[in-house]
Amino acid sequence: MVVPTLLFLCFSALAQASVTVYHQQPIGQSPAAAPTGSNSVSAPSASYTGVQAYNPRTLSPPPLPQELPPTQFNINLQPTADQVNGLSIQQSGAFFGFSIETSVVTQVLGINSTFIQVPFLNLVQLVVERAGRFHIRIGGNTQETARLTSFIADGKMIEKQGIDPNNPTATPALVYTMEMFYVLSNISALTNVKWFLGIPFNDTANFALEIAQYGEQILGNNLLGLQVANEPDLYARHSHRPQNYTQYDFFGEFGDLIKAMQANTNIPTTNNLVGPNIAVADWTPEMVWDTGFIPAYAPNLFALSVENYPDDNCAETFPDAGLGPIKDPQAEFVKYLYHDAPNAGKTMIQKFLNTAGLAQQAGKPLWMFETNSASCGGFAGISNSFGATLWAIDHGLQMAYSNFSGAMLHIGGQDVSYNPATPPPTGQSTFNQWTPGSIFYSILAVSEAFGTSNQSQIIDITQNTYQPIYAIYDKGNLARVAVTNFLDDPSGANDFTMSIGVGGQALGQANAVPAAVKVKYMRAPSVSELFNITWAGQTLGGMFQCDGRMKGTETIETIPCDQNANVCNIKVPAPGFALVFMSDTALTDSEPSATVTFSTTALTRTMNTATIDAAALETSNGQSGITRHLGSTSKGSSGAGRGTGVVSSVAALGALLAGVVVFFRAFAQ
Ligand SMILES: *[C@@H]1O[C@H](CO)[C@@H](O)[C@H](O)[C@H]1NC(C)=O
Ligand SMILES: *[C@@H]1O[C@H](CO)[C@@H](O)[C@H](O)[C@H]1NC(C)=O
Ligand SMILES: *[C@@H]1O[C@H](CO)[C@@H](O)[C@H](O)[C@H]1NC(C)=O
Ligand SMILES: *[C@@H]1O[C@H](CO)[C@@H](O)[C@H](O)[C@H]1NC(C)=O
Ligand SMILES: *[C@@H]1O[C@H](CO)[C@@H](O)[C@H](O)[C@H]1NC(C)=O
Ligand SMILES: *[C@@H]1O[C@H](CO)[C@@H](O)[C@H](O)[C@H]1NC(C)=O
Ligand SMILES: *[C@@H]1O[C@H](CO)[C@@H](O)[C@H](O)[C@H]1NC(C)=O
Repeated sequence: MVVPTLLFLCFSALAQASVTVYHQQPIGQSPAAAPTGSNSVSAPSASYTGVQAYNPRTLSPPPLPQELPPTQFNINLQPTADQVNGLSIQQSGAFFGFSIETSVVTQVLGINSTFIQVPFLNLVQLVVERAGRFHIRIGGNTQETARLTSFIADGKMIEKQGIDPNNPTATPALVYTMEMFYVLSNISALTNVKWFLGIPFNDTANFALEIAQYGEQILGNNLLGLQVANEPDLYARHSHRPQNYTQYDFFGEFGDLIKAMQANTNIPTTNNLVGPNIAVADWTPEMVWDTGFIPAYAPNLFALSVENYPDDNCAETFPDAGLGPIKDPQAEFVKYLYHDAPNAGKTMIQKFLNTAGLAQQAGKPLWMFETNSASCGGFAGISNSFGATLWAIDHGLQMAYSNFSGAMLHIGGQDVSYNPATPPPTGQSTFNQWTPGSIFYSILAVSEAFGTSNQSQIIDITQNTYQPIYAIYDKGNLARVAVTNFLDDPSGANDFTMSIGVGGQALGQANAVPAAVKVKYMRAPSVSELFNITWAGQTLGGMFQCDGRMKGTETIETIPCDQNANVCNIKVPAPGFALVFMSDTALTDSEPSATVTFSTTALTRTMNTATIDAAALETSNGQSGITRHLGSTSKGSSGAGRGTGVVSSVAALGALLAGVVVFFRAFAQ
């Protein structure tokens, strides 16, 4: 296939320097680690010796439940938010972001500020087009001992220093150079990424504050917050603190950090902290709140945060660590595949509902700073399956309904199976193609469910556990209905029909539903599927086939409603997900007519997200089968200048928000 040549230019009257982003041609080379054979062939994990990100293990879909839900049911929705009790706080389409382990930043983002991963930019841009922006947290276990250094041999930006034997998640201490900040800054100049960085917390007598200093100086407004401590409730267990370390000690250290930051004249902003980031393993959130954490530190907090996974696969990942019997992934699978399942978002976040209320009272957002299907790398066959796509959609929507303000899906590198997207292994062509993760599709679905207004409110109106339903109100009006069918039945006998009526009356009352609704479907042949996943007919492709762009023609279905009977009948495949747009006008109004009219090499549109309606879905990639995307095989100019620090970053951001973005492109068909 011919790879399109295109440039991404961001013009800013304020930008002083021109930036060139170079990339190599994707050459389609398969890494040595690639498993042989088709990914549709079931392979027991024991026979697979490559890295987890490419484990082809394919499970069987769990059998249908004994008691099946009805294949048709009615839901009656109120047309406006003021008639609905229990709606969430206002949510944004940027609800889901990435959490990137510091040690894999080079692989995922790029090797330096002039060598940024184009598939990564394209993937991020897919979300930015739908949500207006994208959040990335750089951190994790590796943030704790990360130290700035002036130089690393071979021009490297980040280098691991060996494995910390005390840490069961086996993450290395690392050093990084200033180049890391320039990479982040240049990414934000190219697409609207907002960052969270982690302050090392291993040494509270002598805080390493460079990440705060240079993060603030170089990223400016593109740095949203600074994470303080990573999973401090596990410090004692991992021997990072004495065994008698408690939440009260942590409370004291958090205060020490604030004092150290305030005493450092190079750190202008000290009210952007994110904490306490507990894993909720050895402490409950309430144990931390009982210390007085919220009132004591509210003036310095950007957000409250927690980290949590519903399950772990530590026994399989660390077979010699004596962690008990290896969990059978086939038996685990069903635990993700219904709304009230043990590993479903709803079950997992019960322990945070009180905290979500406290956060609202304190006027602070609550973020899930790191989550995914299972810690210790996930379960190959589950974490990378279409089942996980549906699980993560339900998890995200449930967190939003429960008044979280954002959640970061973790990217852990080559050794995990849950990545939303996996870059090619190092040692291969740096810009070899990527492997899409099934949960990247969940990010797209959730971003579209909320859109760009920042005013979406969601409510869980699930009637049966296999088919969760959420209604979303945007700017006060019923806007979308998100419905999942977890059942897996290729015969079609368990496809179901959701009959939507509007007005709170019985179906049969005239004229409350629109004449027609638009629907986007998420489809795959089964919950076990790893790659053949489509969102509105488009896919990211298979293993090593993803350049970050959606392939295929976007298909948005128009489903006529019966206005006399006040009903829209929406069929939902088993398995599958449907996003129903209740307001046709909003969708039509936001269609970027300019997108489809350029037949030469230029496409112009504004990136002023304030004017793009929440239902701006057809601004997404693939309009009329023509894919819009960020630069790839050629070079581009981003307008961000090195060394000009804050000024330049802010100027570039301004250009993205208010200015004009020009894409030059050729088409690959
Ligand atoms: C980035 O890496 C490329 C490839 O190794 C190199 O040519 C370029 O000079 C580097 N840029 C910077 C700013 O270090
Ligand atoms: C913290 O991490 C740094 C960098 O790895 C290391 O040099 C230092 O000794 C550590 N400090 C403590 C108290 O563990
Ligand atoms: C906690 O343990 C450390 C050493 O392991 C000791 O020095 C310290 O006094 C203990 N603190 C308390 C409050 O017991
Ligand atoms: C979320 O917050 C809203 C507004 O305070 C509240 O009405 C609603 O009950 C909360 N949702 C949950 C699940 O607690
Ligand atoms: C992909 O899945 C769809 C159903 O979602 C199916 O119709 C199609 O045949 C599958 N393609 C391949 C190559 O398996
Ligand atoms: C949504 O919120 C973000 C972050 O505060 C802001 O940058 C953006 O302009 C807002 N969008 C709208 C449409 O208000
Ligand atoms: C982006 O990268 C280029 C190339 O290294 C560099 O000249 C420029 O200063 C970088 N921009 C920022 C804001 O760091």
